[in-house]
Amino acid sequence: MNEAITRRNFVGATAVLAGSLVSTAAGADADAAKSGKLKIIGISCSPRKGMTTAAAVQAALDAAKGVDPRIEVELIDLGGLAIAGYSPTPPEDDFKAILPKLQDPAVAGLIVGSPSYYRGFSSLCKAFIERCAPLREPKMLLDGKPVGAVATGGFRNGGQEMVIDQIHTAMMCFGMVPVGGRPPAFLGGTLLSANNRVDEDELGLSTARNTGLRVADFALKLANPAS
Ligand SMILES: Cc1cc2nc3c(=O)[nH]c(=O)nc-3n(C[C@H](O)[C@H](O)[C@H](O)COP(=O)(O)O)c2cc1C
Repeated sequence: MNEAITRRNFVGATAVLAGSLVSTAAGADADAAKSGKLKIIGISCSPRKGMTTAAAVQAALDAAKGVDPRIEVELIDLGGLAIAGYSPTPPEDDFKAILPKLQDPAVAGLIVGSPSYYRGFSSLCKAFIERCAPLREPKMLLDGKPVGAVATGGFRNGGQEMVIDQIHTAMMCFGMVPVGGRPPAFLGGTLLSANNRVDEDELGLSTARNTGLRVADFALKLANPAS
């Protein structure tokens, strides 16, 4: 029979989970500390290369880079790339060139961006995340590291928050910790794409920047727990 969940054993289990999270994160970040650099990678999951989702992720990365000289950023724009979803026989496609960048021990956090497609993330985003299985096995390479999310949409309230939730939920399967954005961008970056541009959406851009800042804050905290 299952043990009844009491407040006491729930709190205890939560404390053990939190402890293991901190220790796995500390282990992963020991590698990053050795190299000195903290790499934050942004992934734009729009099939349209260099468009508004890429611009939103880049805004988040630029903000993250300004937080500390140890932070390096890189945008991986999946636009125009062929990336199929999971298959028992790994497909020979463009994912092969991306995987080593994500396996770099210096990776200290991710920022994942997707357009809202019918109020959900793009199939490219889903396919990309499905293919990231080698980041979970044999070792949880992203365990305890921060992840932020940004979403673009053709409407102000076009499902961006649901896209962010989907990204967070999927990345939690990798042990990543969704950190939202610096207040008041509590969830992440939500941007309005109008006429293929986000540069006039100052409010939305500020949420993207706040997401980058928050991911950088957590990456630094994990690298220097005493600070
Ligand atoms: C198939 C499809 C579905 C879409 N569904 C939505 C939607 O549900 N909500 C929304 O706000 N915008 C929707 N859009 C608009 C895109 O989210 C918007 O144009 C997005 O910013 C494009 O990103 P990109 O410029 O990086 O390609 C949709 C666009 C396409 C092609």
